[in-house]
Amino acid sequence: MENIKSYVQQHKDRFINELIELLKIPSVSADTAYSQDVIDTAEAVKESLTKAGCDLVEVCDTPGYPIIYGEKIIDPNLPTVLVYGHYDVQPPDPLELWTSPPFEPVIKKTDIHPEGAIFARGACDDKGQMYMHVKALELMVQSNTLPCNVKFMIEGEEEVGSASLAWFVERNQEKLKNDVILISDTGMISNQQPSITTGLRGLSYVEVEVTGPNRDLHSGLYGGAVANPINILAKMIASLHDENNHITIPGFYDKVQELSAEERAEMAKAPFSLEKYKNALNIADVYGEKGYVTNERNSIRPTLDVNGIWGGYQGEGAKTVIASKAFAKISMRLVPNQEWEEITELFTKHFTSIAPAGVTVKVTPHHGGQGYVTPIDSIGYQAANKAYTETFGVPAIPVRSGGSIPIVALFEKELKSKTILMGFGLDSDAIHSPNEHFGIFNYLKGIETIPLFYKYFVELSSK
Ligand code: BES
Ligand code: MN
Ligand code: MN
Repeated sequence: MENIKSYVQQHKDRFINELIELLKIPSVSADTAYSQDVIDTAEAVKESLTKAGCDLVEVCDTPGYPIIYGEKIIDPNLPTVLVYGHYDVQPPDPLELWTSPPFEPVIKKTDIHPEGAIFARGACDDKGQMYMHVKALELMVQSNTLPCNVKFMIEGEEEVGSASLAWFVERNQEKLKNDVILISDTGMISNQQPSITTGLRGLSYVEVEVTGPNRDLHSGLYGGAVANPINILAKMIASLHDENNHITIPGFYDKVQELSAEERAEMAKAPFSLEKYKNALNIADVYGEKGYVTNERNSIRPTLDVNGIWGGYQGEGAKTVIASKAFAKISMRLVPNQEWEEITELFTKHFTSIAPAGVTVKVTPHHGGQGYVTPIDSIGYQAANKAYTETFGVPAIPVRSGGSIPIVALFEKELKSKTILMGFGLDSDAIHSPNEHFGIFNYLKGIETIPLFYKYFVELSSK
């Protein structure tokens, strides 16, 4: 532990500068305007793994963006850790809300990060967290302390549904064989209280299109006489929740795994201040499903949210018009054992059925994935907990997250191994939002904690 700390102290400026260089490449997977940058980032990841000490590094072509595979096999009889991460990032918009440009990383101090945080798109999600693993490998190789085999699989399409990764995993089961999968792409409670993510929600993401008249109409000449697609879409969306904020899609809750009173009581022990939560978001009150508290609403309960809605006139001034079409992007976060494809079908059937005769509705599924829960009595969880306990001075708390990493359920299905979600981000790091950042403390703590995971995983595996 002392050796780890001193290595990190000695090399921390370089660790930070290398991450800053990686963050300068705008690897936005959702927008083809950035496709060369995404490919350049893949190359940069490849080089970093080679430098850190992998014996083999490959840029694997896929139907989409390349997957970087790296490995260091020291002894086939020892356990193998498979590290997964992603080098793609979310689009940076709205640009005007960034206090510094999203791809010109700068270190700024915040109330939560008094020692500074790197501000850039992808700083926390996931370049910064992925790169902790690259530097942890370097540390273990340089100090001759790598206790087992390691494989890396870093993809460039996580933020758009990981289609190529699913393709790759199905075709490379032998290559990817492992004893545990390790991912840092989630968060923890606070810098004083580490936590390990034991659950992720599933996802069904759809786009809807409501079409009324065959052209835009004068809102005086036609208003009141024909269905206005925007009015109708707003009504249809509003009807998807009832007065208790339950989702009204028939069958939606049929497979939802309910938690026992004991499990809910256990969840309630995690430190949480509703006042602080509201203050951080500048809201007068929280809002959600009746019968559940905030930490349940955003983790063990399924939800439905509009992520974007558009149509009609949005330019300067006023234009009197009834638009021919209205659109929305809708995400449903799912919990075990909801099947995302079945939910997409239920949504489509319901949404089409509630449309009045004056409009037609088209639903286009985007992507989705299954939720995930992992037990806390596994060797992987115990090893992670020991590692956190050593670097933070307190044990980690198991927490179910509301976010989604759909590929995790697929890993379990295809590779038959459990995933340990060792996240070092904070909810306040603004991932997917303007001014995303990652604390220097968190970055360096991650690099310190990861080698201890390897150490304890190997120790516990040999017992
Ligand atoms: N790293 C996030 C997921 C996450 C963040 C999980 C924090 C738990 C805590 C990941 O990059 C992400 O954004 N996933 C998407 C889903 C994907 C299919 C686009 C999400 O959750 O919206
Ligand atoms: Mn991520
Ligand atoms: Mn993300």
